[in-house]
Amino acid sequence: MTLQHFFDSEYPKSSNSRDIWSVIDAITNASVKVSDDLKKAALLDNVLGAQGGQNIQGEDQQKLDVIADIAFIDAFKKSGAITGIGSEENEKFVSFDTEKSKDADYVVLFDPLDGSSNIDVNVSVGTIFSIYKRLSQYGESTELKDFLQPGTEQTLAGYVLYGTSTMLVLTWGSGVHGFTLDPDTNLFILSHQDMKMPVSSRLYAMNEGNIQECEPGIASYIKYCQSHDNDYEGPYSGRYIGSLVADFHRSLIKGGIYIYPNVPAAPKGRLRLLYECNPLAFIAEQAGGLATTGRIRILEINPAELHERAPLFIGSKNMVQKAMSFLS
Ligand code: AHG
Ligand code: MN
Ligand code: MN
Repeated sequence: MTLQHFFDSEYPKSSNSRDIWSVIDAITNASVKVSDDLKKAALLDNVLGAQGGQNIQGEDQQKLDVIADIAFIDAFKKSGAITGIGSEENEKFVSFDTEKSKDADYVVLFDPLDGSSNIDVNVSVGTIFSIYKRLSQYGESTELKDFLQPGTEQTLAGYVLYGTSTMLVLTWGSGVHGFTLDPDTNLFILSHQDMKMPVSSRLYAMNEGNIQECEPGIASYIKYCQSHDNDYEGPYSGRYIGSLVADFHRSLIKGGIYIYPNVPAAPKGRLRLLYECNPLAFIAEQAGGLATTGRIRILEINPAELHERAPLFIGSKNMVQKAMSFLS
């Protein structure tokens, strides 16, 4: 079953459903382009390597960060259903401000390419996105308040994983569904209906290079994972890809926990609340998992700024709860 067929049969019929389809359609169009570029990256000029600048967060931009950013923004502009966007790669939100977009219902927040340190080594990367209904007046430009809504207000969230297959994983609040790109037709086909995250597993993911630098509860939890005194009575397996989207996808299918706590180099966490934590938290909860900062639910945070960061504990419900119990 194609994504469009699935959407037509499952998405609640409302005056908004055509617009939501336009948003999804824009995402799939841009992701097919990015997926093609990634597949041929080393054979193309000007695709791999550093862009030679930094984004607003002081991170080195890769050429593909910028290529993906432009591809998605172009597709969102064309869709007619989106009034403005906020992107990890742009300092400020962009209000599209065309006649049509000024009356559009939705804003998108997105990480065009997650895991960009993995691009040059042919390891999975992804695009993560989150869609909200605007709060500003119709007929006017987008305002900051449209983008600073808590994650509980998301209409739709998802990610595209450019892995050994290209997959789109989506939720609109009634379960999580996965679609695999058929490269022969460029159509996304339903391959994983109603995905449920196992409540526990023996897999944990953390950049353990940071272990001495985190609050002591984190090291105690990791020690628990590695010990014989845990719920499996033996060491868990450590799995860390370094692309959040790919680490999360593994947890969604096989169960597991992903932890990125506060560290001195990133005192408020490394991951971005609006582009990474919220969309994945929505998906995690819809699949029966949990997403917290280690103390509070990610989706209930009231964002204060566009590029806000948060510590993230995400994955299998029992594992996230257990990890939180180690924090004082
Ligand atoms: P991005 O490529 O969008 O900047 O995100 C990178 C994130 C995330 O994908 C990953 O899990 C984490 O940063 C890796 O950080 P470390 O290199 O500190 O482990
Ligand atoms: Mn990212
Ligand atoms: Mn990114």
